Amino acid sequence: MSLLQEEREIILKNEFVEAFDFAEVEEFVKNADKELFISHHFAQKKKMLVQPRGGFPTYEKQFALNEFFVKANVDVLPLTIDSNTRLNDYATAKKMLRLSEESEKDMLNGYPLVNHGYRTTRKMITHFNKPVSLRHGTPDARLLIETAIASGIFEIEGGPITYLLPYSKNFPLDKAFLYWKYVEKVCANYSKLNLPINRESFGPLTATLVPPSITIVIQLLEMLLSLEEGVKSFSVSFSQTGSMNQDIVMGAVIKKMAKHYAEEINCGDAVVNLVYHQWMGAFPTDKKFAEQLISMSTVIAAMVGADKIITKTREEASGIPTKEANAETVANTQYTLRILNGLPNVVDKEEEEILTLEVQAIMEAVFNDPADTLWRKVFNSIKNGIIDVPFSPHIINHNEMITVRDAKKNIRIIKRGNVPIPDKCFEYEKAQCDLTKDNTSIVNDIIHDIGIMQW
Ligand code: 5AD
Repeated sequence: MSLLQEEREIILKNEFVEAFDFAEVEEFVKNADKELFISHHFAQKKKMLVQPRGGFPTYEKQFALNEFFVKANVDVLPLTIDSNTRLNDYATAKKMLRLSEESEKDMLNGYPLVNHGYRTTRKMITHFNKPVSLRHGTPDARLLIETAIASGIFEIEGGPITYLLPYSKNFPLDKAFLYWKYVEKVCANYSKLNLPINRESFGPLTATLVPPSITIVIQLLEMLLSLEEGVKSFSVSFSQTGSMNQDIVMGAVIKKMAKHYAEEINCGDAVVNLVYHQWMGAFPTDKKFAEQLISMSTVIAAMVGADKIITKTREEASGIPTKEANAETVANTQYTLRILNGLPNVVDKEEEEILTLEVQAIMEAVFNDPADTLWRKVFNSIKNGIIDVPFSPHIINHNEMITVRDAKKNIRIIKRGNVPIPDKCFEYEKAQCDLTKDNTSIVNDIIHDIGIMQW
């Protein structure tokens, strides 16, 4: 038995998991309709794909949500997983699912996929026959993705860095790398049977003043970790920064560099897509303002040339959206995309050059780490602060880098910490900001900058 299969058997020895019939699952994936594969829709390049988020505890409610989305002309269906499952607590998920089934009240903030199991869930997925994207936030997603793929979910979001640093305080980062290595291998293996399974990284990170260079470096590294295991379809992503120009620059640089680094490891045959997240920071409570913000995000996604957009709803500030509000966003976003014609081509050479130099310098520092494998190099680079994510709650993150918005609302680095931002770039970043102020005023600016979209 291969090592991977041995690990599989261990993961499946869990009282909450139905018996896996791997031979049957392989047959299913081999013969699955191409419509279920987002990689097929990306390849067609017909339009920017629109994808909401959404997950309810019971099968019935999830089914009803999907019906609403289909009526709203959705391109990609989501399956958002509940927090207990994300933390591998299937016992609590089971109890809360029962309670949700017995009353009208939802006792989980998403769909407990492991408890429902693949035989049941597959019925829903094949019924709608649309690509489904797995949205979770799980450091150890091994069982979850086995169940997802067996259900017909052929896009898997997440990664060892992006599903850990924004979400977790204590989960060991080295374990996350190994658990995600398993995920990549399983995705790569199944990809050989039919069309490729797509992996997507979670670029928004903490969605709080993360500078473009850090976002891009983490996107590139998760892409490389995935491609080196044999994944052939990958999406890099980022969320609206608050400056349209910075978004456009970021889109241009990330596309160029993803291609470059994929070729560097001889994985130029892999398809790399770009995903844009509508504003991921603190939202206005005023629903009309929220709608305006959402429409503006869609315009920017078009300017950036994204292959897929992930939507927000007018109810973002108050919690998990109703299926009605969620479907409304999908319809509105499709409408905005349809009327966006004759987009100008904006290029900012100077900003692109600065950002490219920053990304190159950080990537080089990661590659120069003496460890023997890429994941260990990345692990060490996070441990020693070469990669530093603002506002990450994780104990391993340095939190030494400080960012603030300049007059045009671009996110600028005013303290580098251990991140090897080249001197020339650092001087440029600082020169855009008013640093003559006292520290208290700068802190107040930062607090204001975090809530930039709220008023
Ligand atoms: N259904 C719909 N949206 C969800 N989100 C989290 N869980 C769910 C769910 N079950 C959304 C949040 C936030 C984003 C990160 O995910 O509302 O917008």
